[in-house]
Amino acid sequence: MSLDKKLDKILIIDFGSQFTQLIVRRIRELGVYSELVSHKKINSSQIKKNTKGIILSGGPLNVYQLKNNLFDSKILKLSIPVLGICFGHQIISKFNGGKIKQSKHREFGLANIIKKNKSLLIKNFFKTKRTKVWMSHADQVYKLPKNFKVIASSKNSKYAIVEGKFDKFFGVQFHPEVTHTENGKIIIRNFIFNICKIKKNWSAKNQKIKLIDEVKKQVGSNKVICALSGGVDSSVVAQLLNKAIGKKLYCIFVNTGLLRKNEEVQVIKTFRKKLKMNLTYINAEKKFLAKLKNVTDPEIKRKIIGNQFIKIFEKYSKKIKGAKFLAQGTLYPDLIESKSVTGSQTSKIKSHHNVGGLPKKMKLKLVEPLKYLFKDEVRKLGYELNLGKEIISRHPFPGPGLAIRMPGKITKEKINILKQADHYFIQALRKNNLYDKIWQAYAALLPVKTVGVMGDNRTYEYLCLLRAITSEDGMTADFYQFKKEFIQEISNKIVNSIRGINRVVYDVTSKPPSTIELE
Ligand code: XMP
Repeated sequence: MSLDKKLDKILIIDFGSQFTQLIVRRIRELGVYSELVSHKKINSSQIKKNTKGIILSGGPLNVYQLKNNLFDSKILKLSIPVLGICFGHQIISKFNGGKIKQSKHREFGLANIIKKNKSLLIKNFFKTKRTKVWMSHADQVYKLPKNFKVIASSKNSKYAIVEGKFDKFFGVQFHPEVTHTENGKIIIRNFIFNICKIKKNWSAKNQKIKLIDEVKKQVGSNKVICALSGGVDSSVVAQLLNKAIGKKLYCIFVNTGLLRKNEEVQVIKTFRKKLKMNLTYINAEKKFLAKLKNVTDPEIKRKIIGNQFIKIFEKYSKKIKGAKFLAQGTLYPDLIESKSVTGSQTSKIKSHHNVGGLPKKMKLKLVEPLKYLFKDEVRKLGYELNLGKEIISRHPFPGPGLAIRMPGKITKEKINILKQADHYFIQALRKNNLYDKIWQAYAALLPVKTVGVMGDNRTYEYLCLLRAITSEDGMTADFYQFKKEFIQEISNKIVNSIRGINRVVYDVTSKPPSTIELE
């Protein structure tokens, strides 16, 4: 039986905001089960007793466009507390007799709000009389419904927080779910625990059970192919499927020749020997390097690698008779599509190069069990699935591998030099207990040679660039500030031990304006 039928929940009705998944995530973080549904797909009779609270998300529509087929306003007549966020706040006001209009001053970004009245919703939210919140709206409430009161106002939004009849309706014009809103999580916590009075009922274990359950339902008795890279995401997907369907899972690991040092050995050891999965190892090193010969353009490199993957997959998948699905470790921030996850109005998400062209050509249906999760949640899930720390805490590694850490031509000689430099760098981070403080670190080999002097002799060798960044999700990043001693130690190690490098530089740019990878 699926978990969701039994559990008390917070129902999130999605109107297409970019931030809806963040609401879901915040509630999960607070240890409560929630479900997300499109405003077009829910009516009041479908809402059962185990729904303890409803959140109406933001969205790009105008409230006066909300006809009956777009929102069943009877939902607001149920005796369940409702929190409206941004557009959701305007919906609550509109259907209770208030009025909405376009704001004179559209508000995007940080705004100060000032406390005007008490409410359970803002308990401990204001540390002083004012606080900073994140606004993103063009319309606003200009006439409150009867029996509603103002809880807080900003310069441009008189009704920044409101409370309605009998502690049932709450509206916030800003976005408490984004981290830019100071203490935004307190608003959500107050709503779910103090107002809806739901109890904690959600953990990584539940998440695991739910996802295994969903995967089983989706694939039935069919075979699934999984492209394993050895990185966190594909490892977690593979192990989740392994638990769900066991030997009906066929993993394939392709050695592109552009992997980190000893990566292929580790992957085979972990997945074939330790976790006893069906794992096919394909050494395509020669093919990849031949295709990449003399290629210098970053986008062409990526395309060649992507196409080569597709070819190998197509060939391999034909050998697995009855394979109907392809499992991918797509995460929520990777989703390119402009459609929101529930099929509500558009909510564009920054496009990312993680979701490849793999499936389109292959006529396999996709299994993407992690597509609503964020990286840190995937890591927690990985631990729950008994994947060890050495897999879960690994820094991200891009699909095109070392090819995009080697601007210019790719040669076997350069790959070997780079693998070794990267290995020393990562080893030094681990030895100095820095590895887990850094989100991603790597060595790159720049296509320039510089002059050096070693043992009274002139050298003319490559330049090695080290990059180490802190980040939450890879979307933005800052460089990590090492102590001089560490930089000195690793620079000496690389230059003294690797023939081919005589100079080391450290990348001190953030993202933006740079990206994490060089290409
Ligand atoms: P950028 O360079 O865009 O990288 O700042 C952000 C994060 O994404 C990783 N990355 C990739 N991952 N396939 C992947 O699976 C790719 O083509 C790819 N390109 C970049 C990068 O390592 C960083 O973590």
